[in-house]
Amino acid sequence: MKTIIANWKANPTTLEDALDLFDFYLSEISKYKNISLIVCPPFVFIEELVNKLAANGDINNLRLGAQDLFWEKAGPYTGSPSSTLGQPKVLLGEVSVDMLKNFNISHALVGHSDRRYKMAETDEMINKKIKAALAANIIPVLLVGERNKNDERAVVLEQQLTADLDSLAAEQISKILITYEPVWAISTTPGAEPDTPESTLEAVEIINEFLSKTYNLKPTTCLYGGSVNENNVVDFLKHLEISGAVIGGASLRKGEFAEMLGRVNNINR
Ligand code: PGA
Repeated sequence: MKTIIANWKANPTTLEDALDLFDFYLSEISKYKNISLIVCPPFVFIEELVNKLAANGDINNLRLGAQDLFWEKAGPYTGSPSSTLGQPKVLLGEVSVDMLKNFNISHALVGHSDRRYKMAETDEMINKKIKAALAANIIPVLLVGERNKNDERAVVLEQQLTADLDSLAAEQISKILITYEPVWAISTTPGAEPDTPESTLEAVEIINEFLSKTYNLKPTTCLYGGSVNENNVVDFLKHLEISGAVIGGASLRKGEFAEMLGRVNNINR
């Protein structure tokens, strides 16, 4: 079973288009029994999509996730707290973990590079978000990875994991879906190119070495994200160590996304 996370980011712009794309996912998903599909839409569409999913009965391999969450239950948090630290492009009212719980969200992205670098989110905030998600039984999808191709990858991964997982127990860490997503590989980064599967396997090894020496955890699998498309998805996911993919741009293109799901579904046959 492979996990595919569709990260819609700030797309589409209308509820009508969001429902249309989700309808397409619903019509396709029954074909892909070997895939667990998690759809992460913008917050404003979650309620409608949750209702639509419920109205479609018992679909157990499609769940909804959030692209982010806020660790406080409620209160005076009009803008992102990161706005005081950096220069975010937009100001958001925070959406708390307790609000998301009402919608039966199964997963939440935490530490996406859009938030780390465009919203100046710190590792300390990411750590609080992971703890809040786990406390609410929401599975955190923690995204880590270096910003530039020539950054010292092992150093960056170790620094991010040390801070993001601070004071968590090994048993809690084993619930997190760790995703290697180098920023230079994300399709919207200028000059982006996907990582190679061989290099991603090395990243998984770095992550596992860290988890073993720091938390005494056995080797785990990771997800990969960054310009995953119909031509490369199998090359990554055919490896046992790579248990899934976070897909941005291609998840918005119906034909391409369906093709990718079909190819991934056949891996386990
Ligand atoms: P991409 O986005 O698939 O468009 O590269 C991945 C992500 O940012 O999560």
